[in-house]
Amino acid sequence: METDWGIATKENNMVHSAAAYDVERNRADFPVLSRKVRGKPLVYLDNAATTQKPKAVIDRLTEYYTSENANIHRGVHYLSEVATAAYEEARAKVQRFLHAVKPQEIVFVRGTTEAINLVANSYGRLNVEEGDEVILSVMEHHSNIVPWQILCQEKGAQLRVVPVADDGELILEAYEKLLGPRTKLVAITHVSNALGTINPVREIIGLAHGKGIPVLLDGAQAVAHMPVDVLALDCDFYSFSGHKLFGPTGIGVLYGKAALLDAMLPYQGGGDMIRSVSFEKAAYNDLPFKFEAGTPNIAGAIGLGAAIDYVQRIGLDRAAAHEHELLHYATTKLCAVQGLQLVGSARQKTGILSFVLDGLHPHDVGTVLDMDGVAIRAGHHCTMPLMERFGVPATARASLALYNNREDVDALVRAIHKAIEVLRRPT
Ligand code: ALA
Repeated sequence: METDWGIATKENNMVHSAAAYDVERNRADFPVLSRKVRGKPLVYLDNAATTQKPKAVIDRLTEYYTSENANIHRGVHYLSEVATAAYEEARAKVQRFLHAVKPQEIVFVRGTTEAINLVANSYGRLNVEEGDEVILSVMEHHSNIVPWQILCQEKGAQLRVVPVADDGELILEAYEKLLGPRTKLVAITHVSNALGTINPVREIIGLAHGKGIPVLLDGAQAVAHMPVDVLALDCDFYSFSGHKLFGPTGIGVLYGKAALLDAMLPYQGGGDMIRSVSFEKAAYNDLPFKFEAGTPNIAGAIGLGAAIDYVQRIGLDRAAAHEHELLHYATTKLCAVQGLQLVGSARQKTGILSFVLDGLHPHDVGTVLDMDGVAIRAGHHCTMPLMERFGVPATARASLALYNNREDVDALVRAIHKAIEVLRRPT
């Protein structure tokens, strides 16, 4: 099956059984979800900021530090071999998860931000010249704006920005017009962290490739909510963070087509990224090690591998269907709240509900919700240009994951009513 936004749901992303989706069973896999905060059961709806961790990931980290910890690629001793094998097995898991052609195309980084900085510094420095252009969209996270801005300032190049319609969808006709002979790269988010919009990335890539322009996708908000197939999408670079995929913080992935990565210079210098060093010169290591200077986040990569095993057991296609149903339920409930306005109503959305309440500041709303144990994010979500586009300084944002249920949404709506009452009460 293939959706019209180009996400292949292939068999090898569906290791799960055919049993019905059991959200309560999934919830039980996440120890933190059974705790109380401020004397109330935790209602965790800040999944776009970071997801909670299943016991399988926590246990794998404990196991690694308890009995496998060593540095990798260097040691001749037993533990180093065990740690190296586990780290490289994690890379192979990421490769299969993204459907990349080979593990050499998977570079471990700190997170999406570092992945994009790597491409901007390495690919960008080599390929962007004075007068060239890099295309982004209004809905980019700051991490997919600022690295390009720094590059363009340094090179005398320009950012060109794809506009967004009132419903939160990219205006593709405008995008097509921006593609030109000076365009050196398109860098677009797969899913908007502030609106939930799933962008038509297959079409975006097709149009760019028609003019020989490579495309980087920021997949930070996509990978935990849908199966992703970089081969089917034919994107040139894809980045994501482990902590938004139920894995540890401080680990992320840059996928790049081997030919592109091969032609790029290292982003950082140091140990493990070289073959030989003299004071005159250094010969760089093969892919992907050329981009992994210094001791990497070994435990993080192994934990990410465990997180991938976990989501594949559940089945991201089934999780996506569950989240979609819950998004529909939540949208209906929120739209019924007087004075509440949703920001972002694209036809293809993940479970992100950004909203504003008449006359109330989102930070105040978030603070009152927190008193009821309801965790959401309030702010500009690192998308200040997008907030400006919608004429709001900030929004309150509830974001869903595979363990959220209708009770979570009901608790959110109850807490919003309470916030309205408390914050509108004359003092
Ligand atoms: N980028 C993360 C968010 O949207 C932190 O909340």
